[in-house]
Amino acid sequence: MLGTIADFAPNYEAGVGENLTILGIESSCDDTAAAVVRACAGRGDVLSSVVIGQEALHADFGGVVPEIAARAHAERLDGAVEQALVQAGLRLADMDAIAVTAGPGLIGGVVSGVMMAKGLSAGSGKPLVGVNHLAGHALTPRMTDGIAYPYLMLLVSGGHCQFLAVLGPGEFRRLGGTIDDAPGEAFDKTAKLLGLGYPGGPLVEQEAQDGDAARFNFPRPLLDRPNCDMSFSGLKTALRRARDHIIAEKGGLSVGDRADLCASFQHAVAQTLAKKTARAIAAFRDVAHSDAPVLAVAGGVAANQCVGAALRDVAMAEGFEFLAPPLKYCTDNAAMIAWAGLEQFQAGHVDDFTLAARPRWPLDRTAAPMLGSGKKGAKA
Ligand code: KG4
Ligand code: ZN
Repeated sequence: MLGTIADFAPNYEAGVGENLTILGIESSCDDTAAAVVRACAGRGDVLSSVVIGQEALHADFGGVVPEIAARAHAERLDGAVEQALVQAGLRLADMDAIAVTAGPGLIGGVVSGVMMAKGLSAGSGKPLVGVNHLAGHALTPRMTDGIAYPYLMLLVSGGHCQFLAVLGPGEFRRLGGTIDDAPGEAFDKTAKLLGLGYPGGPLVEQEAQDGDAARFNFPRPLLDRPNCDMSFSGLKTALRRARDHIIAEKGGLSVGDRADLCASFQHAVAQTLAKKTARAIAAFRDVAHSDAPVLAVAGGVAANQCVGAALRDVAMAEGFEFLAPPLKYCTDNAAMIAWAGLEQFQAGHVDDFTLAARPRWPLDRTAAPMLGSGKKGAKA
């Protein structure tokens, strides 16, 4: 008689030991990624990190098209894994476990990654560890800088925006976040409205360089509320109105108009994030104590100089160290998934073949679910 799929799972024990080596797989949005990370003196030694982007596939649409993304992941995952192993100079047999993003994200892509990992696990007998993509981002500063728990994290990307108190490898408190669009999404929509291309963040930042950030007074929603929730969807409406007003008056946008619109928009985002970060720091102090408090950031928007400077200023004013890991580990990658898997594996967590791909997967199960939808689907 055939058993359930769980019966085929190899029998293994959770990992202990100093130099665990983990293969990580990531495919939850528009990057197909694989990496090998080894634990080394309290942090992660990234032996390889392969990221195959899909920007060209989605550029014409101004955002990620889920079906196109899923197909591309299915086609590229095996090559990404092979490259990661070759670059690390290791074989699958040298891994202690296989970690994979099991959500949240675009479900077609997540399914591709989870199936790939299950296949590798079944074929090699290596333990399988399902990782929350957001935990990957949230634990990145431990991989890169070996910082201690607890710390405050601002995740700010194209699909996510939330403040987290990171208390342990599986212990997170969500202190607040966006109630609608993520800031990266707002940057991308702004770029689209101004005909700048995709992904919009870096292009808007570049345009903003010569712009006057004081020319347009764009809204800073929810600043009047004492919590650290944010809203960014009204910003693009305000920007569209300002754009249409100029076009109606002058027949088109000049280079200067576009620069001023970008600079004013970017300033509004940076100020909103900075003000809410001050509140998140106060909320963090209520749930955790650290003698050497750290504010860490992750996500593509953390690459923005104006946003980064505003966050650094707030952190310093509040006596927090500001930590922005190298950009290649701030944006989507598989090294962060390998590391989060490594921490989970060390803590005794192993999955069997019933591991499910999840479109939604809140890190903090005690926090109320957030409404809204972005390019990654419903907010986690
Ligand atoms: O973390 P990420 O690579 O992917 C996820 O969304 O998870 O972030 C990508 C987002 C995009 O929306 C992109 O426009 C934004 O980060 N971004 C930026 C900058 N670089 C990337 N936004 C503002 N300024 C930038 N320099
Ligand atoms: Zn991400």
